[in-house]
Amino acid sequence: MAKEKTVYVCQACGARSPRWFGRCPECGEWNTCVEEVVRKEKPGRVGDLPVSEVVPITQIPPSQVPRRATGIGELDRALGGGIVPGSAVLVAGDPGIGKSTLLLQASGSLAFSGEPVLYVSGEESAQQVRLRAERIGALSEELWLLAETNVEAVLAQMEKISPTLAVVDSVQTLFAPELDGAPGGVSQVRECAARLVGFAKRTGTAVFLIGHVTKEGTIAGPRLLEHMVDTVLALEGDRHHAYRVLRAVKNRFGSTNEVGLFEMRERGMAEVLNPSEIFLPERAEVPPGSAVACTMEGTRPILVEIQALVAPTAFGYPQRSTTGIDGRRLAMLLAVLEKRIGLRLGDQDVFCNAAGGVRIEEPAADLAVALAVASSFRDRPIPSRTVAIGEVGLGGEVRPVGHIAQRLSEAQKLGFERCLLAKGNLKGLSRTGGMWVIGVERLDAAIVEAMRS
Ligand code: TYD
Ligand code: MG
Repeated sequence: MAKEKTVYVCQACGARSPRWFGRCPECGEWNTCVEEVVRKEKPGRVGDLPVSEVVPITQIPPSQVPRRATGIGELDRALGGGIVPGSAVLVAGDPGIGKSTLLLQASGSLAFSGEPVLYVSGEESAQQVRLRAERIGALSEELWLLAETNVEAVLAQMEKISPTLAVVDSVQTLFAPELDGAPGGVSQVRECAARLVGFAKRTGTAVFLIGHVTKEGTIAGPRLLEHMVDTVLALEGDRHHAYRVLRAVKNRFGSTNEVGLFEMRERGMAEVLNPSEIFLPERAEVPPGSAVACTMEGTRPILVEIQALVAPTAFGYPQRSTTGIDGRRLAMLLAVLEKRIGLRLGDQDVFCNAAGGVRIEEPAADLAVALAVASSFRDRPIPSRTVAIGEVGLGGEVRPVGHIAQRLSEAQKLGFERCLLAKGNLKGLSRTGGMWVIGVERLDAAIVEAMRS
């Protein structure tokens, strides 16, 4: 094949140059140069081109997007209800988080339902993939394997068996032979992905691309591909915990609110159907520094134990350390506790964790975090079976949050008896189902109420 012409493009400003550059001559940014292939398109006159006609929107036939369930409920949920034919999905995550395992399971499951599936592995040999498939129970006659890194060869095989689903593991191992860059480089990744996405659109095969998140986060990583695909799923989790959250970061065919929850087990990823039970401790006596929050993961409420430890600083600056909780959010809450409540935290180390390796992003957990810190500082426990729901403002006020009825019903289901929430959440709350609901306006009142036994 004749070598295609390449051009060097600045990733920051889009300036083009026929030669490589270290610093962009246009915008002055360093290390933004990326090689791209120039596609020669025949210049056509406007008169020759097929012209699209305008159509009233009401005349466009409503189309139900047909979907295929993978058989893994939590994955289907994150996808917005199953696989859309012809869609391109990027599954991104840190190395070792379980991307290959999850997608091999999904491939096996779909193949067992009689749909042909192609699993392309550029990272592992066919034997290795088979070994794993055996372990997770994905050995199906309809699951086809290809250990290949040349994108042309991959496309040729896809053309041949025209699978319902093709998984490419990973997009960073593929290369287009006519391109100079190394596999994993920006131009290779982008070009290979573009061809695979094009194949999906043309043929109706759903293509799942696995992408590792690189340390730097951007270069040749999944960020580069986000705009090219229909759906981006991020597989997240703490290496030291078995729990994994599959989050839709972008979805042209569904809501980005949904998440799938999994647990990494001996035999692959198991669906977590009752998340709250995992993130709650099982014990009767609760030590000081523990509070329970209820956060929404997508449309599901999850109860999570928040633990705080406040201890005098031995020397130097006081430490603040968090796991699963945003450090800046904790800093804000500590400032509120110091300034509005009068807790002297300036000479105390504060450690604050969310149990079980979840990552809490919702401000609705503020109240529980603040209560956990106050409880540890005062060395007084918050009685068990108490859940705290609310955002804390800079003035020390407790703010109402959304989905309160759902959160309450989840807490009640798990045997909670007492709920602290913002007074503003009380109105509109018709049923409390026997739960003792305490509305508070300010954080100081919440602390008093929480520690009352
Ligand atoms: P893997 O799917 O290879 O991660 P990724 O493709 O995202 O890099 O999963 C890697 C880890 O998962 C590895 O450390 C072993 C573990 N694992 C299990 O615990 N149980 C299993 O059944 C499998 C297949 C893997
Ligand atoms: Mg892998």
